[in-house]
Amino acid sequence: MFKMLQSLLLSAALGAQLLVPGATPAPNLAPAKEPAVLKLDEKTAQEDAALHRLDGIGKLKAQAAGVQKPKTRPHPKNNTPNRLIATFNGDPETTRGFNWFTSDLAPAKLWVSESKDMKNARSFEAIAQPVVSHYVERDEKGFFLFQLVDKKTNQVLRYFTDEGKEPGVWDQSQEIEDRKTQSVSIDVEKVQEISYKATARGLKPGTTYYYQVRSDKGEKSSVGRFKTAKGAGAPFSFLHYTDTQNAFWNQHLMDEAAYGADTLARALKMHPDADFVVHTGDVVEIAEVEDEWVDLFEKSKASFQQTTLAMTAGNHDEYGINYADRFPHKYTDHVNVPAMGPDDGGTYYSYDYNGVHFVVLNTNDNKNNEGKALGKAQLEWLKKDVQAARKNGAQWVILNYHKPLFSKSYHSLQDKDVQKVRDEFMKLIDELDIDLALQGHDHVLSRTKSLAYVPQSVSPFNAKVADEYVMRGGRETLVNPEGTTFVLPNTGGTKAYDDIYRKGLDHVKKVRPALSWLTKDLLGEYENLFAFGEQPQKSPRFETSHANLRDSKVQNFAKYTVKNGTLLTELYQVEGDLKGERSVRLVDSFSIVKEPKPEVLQIQGTDRYETSVEVSKRFYPTADTVLLATGEVSADSLAAASLSALLKAPILLSKNDQMPTKVLAEIQRLGAKKLLVLGGERRIAQAALDQLPKNLVVERIAGETRYETAAKIAHRVLQENGSKTILVVNGSGAHDADALSAALLVHQEAAPILYAQGATLGRSTEAFLKAHALEKAVLLGGERALSLKTQQQLEALKLNTQRLGADNRYLTALAVAKAYAPLPKEVIVVAADALTDGTVASGILNHHPMPIILSDKHHTIPEVNEFLKAKTLERIYLLGGERTIQRIR
Ligand SMILES: [Fe+2]
Ligand SMILES: [Fe+2]
Repeated sequence: MFKMLQSLLLSAALGAQLLVPGATPAPNLAPAKEPAVLKLDEKTAQEDAALHRLDGIGKLKAQAAGVQKPKTRPHPKNNTPNRLIATFNGDPETTRGFNWFTSDLAPAKLWVSESKDMKNARSFEAIAQPVVSHYVERDEKGFFLFQLVDKKTNQVLRYFTDEGKEPGVWDQSQEIEDRKTQSVSIDVEKVQEISYKATARGLKPGTTYYYQVRSDKGEKSSVGRFKTAKGAGAPFSFLHYTDTQNAFWNQHLMDEAAYGADTLARALKMHPDADFVVHTGDVVEIAEVEDEWVDLFEKSKASFQQTTLAMTAGNHDEYGINYADRFPHKYTDHVNVPAMGPDDGGTYYSYDYNGVHFVVLNTNDNKNNEGKALGKAQLEWLKKDVQAARKNGAQWVILNYHKPLFSKSYHSLQDKDVQKVRDEFMKLIDELDIDLALQGHDHVLSRTKSLAYVPQSVSPFNAKVADEYVMRGGRETLVNPEGTTFVLPNTGGTKAYDDIYRKGLDHVKKVRPALSWLTKDLLGEYENLFAFGEQPQKSPRFETSHANLRDSKVQNFAKYTVKNGTLLTELYQVEGDLKGERSVRLVDSFSIVKEPKPEVLQIQGTDRYETSVEVSKRFYPTADTVLLATGEVSADSLAAASLSALLKAPILLSKNDQMPTKVLAEIQRLGAKKLLVLGGERRIAQAALDQLPKNLVVERIAGETRYETAAKIAHRVLQENGSKTILVVNGSGAHDADALSAALLVHQEAAPILYAQGATLGRSTEAFLKAHALEKAVLLGGERALSLKTQQQLEALKLNTQRLGADNRYLTALAVAKAYAPLPKEVIVVAADALTDGTVASGILNHHPMPIILSDKHHTIPEVNEFLKAKTLERIYLLGGERTIQRIR
């Protein structure tokens, strides 16, 4: 066994390579070539440091002079597989990725078995990658060796360690006597190691597997286990924790790795059935420092080896000790995941687990010209990936990414790379109908309400509350929500950020001056986006700082359960001293429920004429009588509702001087014997009727004006059905929509529509009412549509009046629906801004009476959206050009 240990002190920069005495270089092993360290420009590095790296520590660039350096302990070799984890790489039903390390290069294998004793194990070859790891120098007792450095001369003034120091009281920066001239540095030992990747394939779905790995140079690993996914629809749960961080300089103080390990161990103990664990990044504090990876992975070993880890890269997972250094390959050295984009301090990938589509994003995508946390290529990939998943039938889509769009501490509003992409990322999240976004980075508990996108001009946060909660089983529940919920389970480590906004604007400005652009109103608006959140540690440091001293003994994790159309989120809290009592309790929960959605049937031709044909085709196998109205104004076709109901006749539309071919063909298909033409020559000229079959009886019902035509239609209807009720609607073009909403009333009350002029009844309508013995008038629309005077005129004619209406056309339509069909099985939705397409909708009511609901183009009327969530609803008929109705629910 070769005992090569490359101990490359930083004097290596001067060209001196020092070998440990007795070590022999491996003859067949070329030294690993270390990828070049990515250097950020000084300005970017300083900006980033100010945001993310408040603990001042650097890497020594010069040798000590005149100060005796304590003896250091060389990094020991270890050829027993370590830093071993199972990850998702490929289909979780049949495939699993593995990643581990040893000191020496040798052929290595993975074994996978269905039994614990590894009987009948199948083996898979591993791929070995030599890497150069940087270990912080330690004194002989194993404490990290810090140096107090003169900034000007780069000379070491003295060495010190953290031996005997008190957690939460001491940090290495306190050794600085003069901040202007001194700083703290460390030195690293560069050690060649091997990173292995292996992939198990051809596994059985829904099976617990056991695994071991080994290289030819060392012992076998302990036996780990994982579960394969069962397949779409099978219930499952998974755990989520984040930001274990594990700053090396804290290792002997508040042992972050031990707290992180304990948090996960307790989560898994409480929820042994959880299928896998999501980590949303900042696995370590400084990626360059290998001690942190070793420490975290080894302290978490028992937990890591009983599950699959779905890791996400955090900004710290690429950090070098020096602010400007980036080690983008460190994350993928430790994690075996698919690399969809460049190895860029993380990668993005996705996987499907029992019908849930998980997308892992890389928010370190900021080192190119765009400077965005997520670049263009990644966002385009995200869009295609989610669209493909939806096509494949994914019922839920869950995003995992590190840097939050919404959280209760400062990062989400301050990180520049996040602000640069906020608008387009949130817009895409909305467009892709993402259910849940699991975040990290801000070390605070946060759960938003259900949020939808709005542009910057509406809100600098690009979000509004999209759905209200209902209480089910004592828990806040979203039913078929339109928006997305963003969750951040604080931290699994010991570094906590305060929930600064709750303390008011002055406090925010004090602890994060860069957020001074917030106003009191904006602060309130931002806080209103959250349903739950706080920093559970109450450190006195939070009075003057947003961050604690990495001394929190409160950690959090989340559990998500997907079962029978419900996604339950539970946030748990672990608290107490590792050396004393630690307890776990549930602190928050909420559900998202997806109930069966109604079928959406779009009825649409290339224009309004064809749309009238499509309606007729769908609902009328035959018809003795057909109504023909102009497609150029909507008053006549809307007034035709009562005649359509009386004669069970479809309404078709024609141009003024020419009947569209398809309309003519439809009249023939229906086998119609009679055609009632609504309106005079000005509406539909004789020329348009010339092509009609000669045996068709054609009759006109026409007045000089729309008011008169409506009155003539009403006269015909009342003669036939003897009704004593009429409906009154404002007949000016601006209020046509109310006539459409009236269609259900026409059916239920057997009442025809009359048009008023709005401010008054109008001469012809008043004359009609005087000539007929009626009892009741229902006014459709609020007082802006039909004045009080109009109502009084009706009352003066000895009519009982009733008003159904509200401030606008949308609410008036809802008022009719709620009064006459509060729990409908079917509804018709017409886009009010493309009303002409929907004027023939009343013809559908002969098939089955149902309300006609008006919506706007983008479905922004909350009352309408709420009505369309009625549980009873089985079918929505969508008339006209709107294609986004599915998004309502
Ligand atoms: Fe973090
Ligand atoms: Fe972070």
